Amino acid sequence: MQEKIIILDFGSQTTQLIGRRIRELNTYCEIVPYNKFPKEDKSVKGVILSGSPFSVYDEKAFKIDLKELRGKYPILGICYGAQFIAYTSGGNVEPAGSREYGRAHLDSFDKENVLFKGLKEHTQVWMSHGDTITHIPENFKKIASTDKVEIAAYQIKNEQIWGVQFHPEVFHTEDGTQILKNFVVDVCGCKQDWSAASFIETTVAQLKEQLGNDKVVLALSGGVDSSVAAVLLNRAIGKNLACVFVDHGMLRKNEFKNVMHDYECLGLNVIGIDASKKFFSELAGVTEPEHKRKIIGKGFIDVFDEEAHKIKDVKWLAQGTIYPDCIESLSITGTVIKSHHNVGGLPEKMDLKLCEPLRLLFKDEVRRVGRELGMPEHLITRHPFPGPGLAVRILGDITPEKVRILQDADDIFIQGLRDWGLYDQVWQAGVILLPVQSVGVMGDERTYERAVALRAVTSTDAMTADWAHLPYDFLGKVSNDIINKVKGVNRVTYDISSKPPSTIEWE
Ligand code: XMP
Repeated sequence: MQEKIIILDFGSQTTQLIGRRIRELNTYCEIVPYNKFPKEDKSVKGVILSGSPFSVYDEKAFKIDLKELRGKYPILGICYGAQFIAYTSGGNVEPAGSREYGRAHLDSFDKENVLFKGLKEHTQVWMSHGDTITHIPENFKKIASTDKVEIAAYQIKNEQIWGVQFHPEVFHTEDGTQILKNFVVDVCGCKQDWSAASFIETTVAQLKEQLGNDKVVLALSGGVDSSVAAVLLNRAIGKNLACVFVDHGMLRKNEFKNVMHDYECLGLNVIGIDASKKFFSELAGVTEPEHKRKIIGKGFIDVFDEEAHKIKDVKWLAQGTIYPDCIESLSITGTVIKSHHNVGGLPEKMDLKLCEPLRLLFKDEVRRVGRELGMPEHLITRHPFPGPGLAVRILGDITPEKVRILQDADDIFIQGLRDWGLYDQVWQAGVILLPVQSVGVMGDERTYERAVALRAVTSTDAMTADWAHLPYDFLGKVSNDIINKVKGVNRVTYDISSKPPSTIEWE
């Protein structure tokens, strides 16, 4: 049985990061809502209590019965988690004079304590809290302080329970990973044997057992997640997996052809459907962004559904849903928000059982699994691309001619990023076709043609993003190439907005 750490989520924005860090230690962990501890699970080796937007005094604060965990598992409380353990054990938690936010240093810490093994003197930690622990009970001992926070960390004497006021999971806590490792490996005894290879081995075995001789369909998008899911399933059930790749006409230049070729080389059983005519006719004259999205979403489901039903006796629909899509996040009101499915609406429409072999993986883990499965690097490092494709990058109505212009400009930009070695430095890039025409001169003639905007961003999760600081020489070259080679464009701009307050796409 795969040993694991359970992270009880009290609603902090950094809960997912705790999970990421522990997985980086090659240790499997699961994030569950604070009140859903898996009592029956015999493979739990330790428990982490996350931070929270609440104060322990708030009426609505999330509470658990610590007795159910105490003595049974090692426990590490982080921020609110630490305050909650101290407060419910008879300690004192008070509002800090001012919110303590940002860098601090552990002026003193107990070097003998297993949690702090290998920490450097005066190590930097990251604080983000409104309340602070001002008193701990007799059976607690203080194990670290900063200049502003007297009780920055504690351990309950003779028990495997620790609390830290700072956030070891965030990047700015210099030795944060070491602290988590000390807890996970030295205290909880995890073997650090969670790897892409072990994931593939156990998942393939599980899929064989779960699916038997059943037939499965999967919608490929050309993206990393659905491609890795397909290759994994192919390894488990071979020809019983049928993949469908729908071309809605708004893919990148030559994307359909290239990706079909990649899939065939990977030995996948893929049906490619060119449905571009249907989509162009349904989108004609539509300008409202959400309306465009709806037309494409519904059209996609209809085409996929029709193809899937041509395959006899299909029992399962497989999807490349990944962990961040599934984690139930807690809103401040305490309700659990269940996230979307990858292909919105598909499972509801098709009367099939759902199979999501990547649902426990983070994005970088999906990539590692893809590499381990021998998939080509260009498929694995591919930038994210919106499901409705170039439709959300053409402002206003969509025509095949506008798509052609955008595909050509986009191809120059993306190929340029690859040629200049910049592709892997940006999270995502593309070109936007603006509903603007402006004056230019070409030779002796005046032109009145379209403007495009280049967009390239750096990000780690698309929730926030900064514009990529690409070299001027590169931007100049791409601009020249687009204006000279793409008929219909005479002006190129570069979008230097960050998210928030802007977004990555323009629509
Ligand atoms: P925004 O524009 O909200 O985009 O900053 C965040 C991420 O989501 C992608 N995106 C979409 N993906 N269907 C998708 O499948 C969509 O309608 C859609 N809109 C935005 C976007 O490319 C970025 O990665």
